[in-house]
Amino acid sequence: MIVTTAQLFKHAYGKYAVGAYNINNAEQAMGLFKGCISSQAPFIIQISKGARKYTDKRMLEAIIRSAAEIFPDAIFAVHLDHGDEQTCYECIDSGFFSSVMIDASHESFDENVAITKRVVDKAHAKGISVEAELGMLGGVEEDIKVDEGHAMLTNPDEAKDFVAKTGCDSLACAIGTSHGAFKFKGKQSLHFDVLEKIKALLPGFPLVMHGSSSVPQDEVARINAAGGKIAGSMGVNVDEYLPAAKRGVTKVNIDTDGRLVWTRVHREYFRDNPGDFDFRPAGKIFIEEYAKFIASRNVLLGSANQLADLRKSLGK
Ligand code: G3H
Ligand code: 13P
Ligand code: ZN
Repeated sequence: MIVTTAQLFKHAYGKYAVGAYNINNAEQAMGLFKGCISSQAPFIIQISKGARKYTDKRMLEAIIRSAAEIFPDAIFAVHLDHGDEQTCYECIDSGFFSSVMIDASHESFDENVAITKRVVDKAHAKGISVEAELGMLGGVEEDIKVDEGHAMLTNPDEAKDFVAKTGCDSLACAIGTSHGAFKFKGKQSLHFDVLEKIKALLPGFPLVMHGSSSVPQDEVARINAAGGKIAGSMGVNVDEYLPAAKRGVTKVNIDTDGRLVWTRVHREYFRDNPGDFDFRPAGKIFIEEYAKFIASRNVLLGSANQLADLRKSLGK
């Protein structure tokens, strides 16, 4: 069942975070649905502009619609990840997306407000939720002074002003994470101080954490042992997911970790089966491994075993 992110956030707020996972193909979709059903968790499917271009946006829609039929108990939102204004409008008009993200965080505050407000007006007219972004995502290095580090983070007063001016439904905040596999140098923690200030100024308002992959070190070691070269990568401490959820983070974005699972499975498979050229055995292993990974994340996010209660609260 496709629902809006707003419906998911209402149930999750302050208790757990909903995993938002990017997908690009059928194997990821199968693993994602399997993992969320086995862990009995609601989830958000994210589709980036790159994913829409990878094969054809209609292909992804068809895959998701089919997965919803194969897994009728699944409760999820279909969300555009990091949309520009034009792509948001396409997705709002498609009748398929239940939620879009307008990412105008690279613009000035006023321009970000203006663009976001236009998208909110169009989306809300069709019952679609909008995530916006304020602040600059980026790795905050251990040796950067606190003041310098904070300059990249979301300003809590601006966040309050931004939400009031745009009417967005959730806000992606920069609290020290960044996209990809190389997030931190040295030991790093999320900026819970900033999160707490934002929560105090925006009580009950759903916050979003991008760049949340944990970059498991055993996964990285296996990839490198099978011919990869991604040494020095580092991600978010998974023990910080739930503390973030308790401070208003209701959506946790994870993409890179899924790519690492894919890379490990395929590198190991073809290393160990050099004569093979059928991609299906490795694809099958990937689906199972990705499902296990997703279920493990849902446990850490606190979204596992929430499905029955969510269904009741939705009156379904
Ligand atoms: O935040 C970006 C996501 O990881 C999606 O990445 O644009 O390469 O599909 P992508
Ligand atoms: P990661 O690169 O940490 O997986 O972040 C994904 C993300 O934020 C998608 O919007
Ligand atoms: Zn992101």
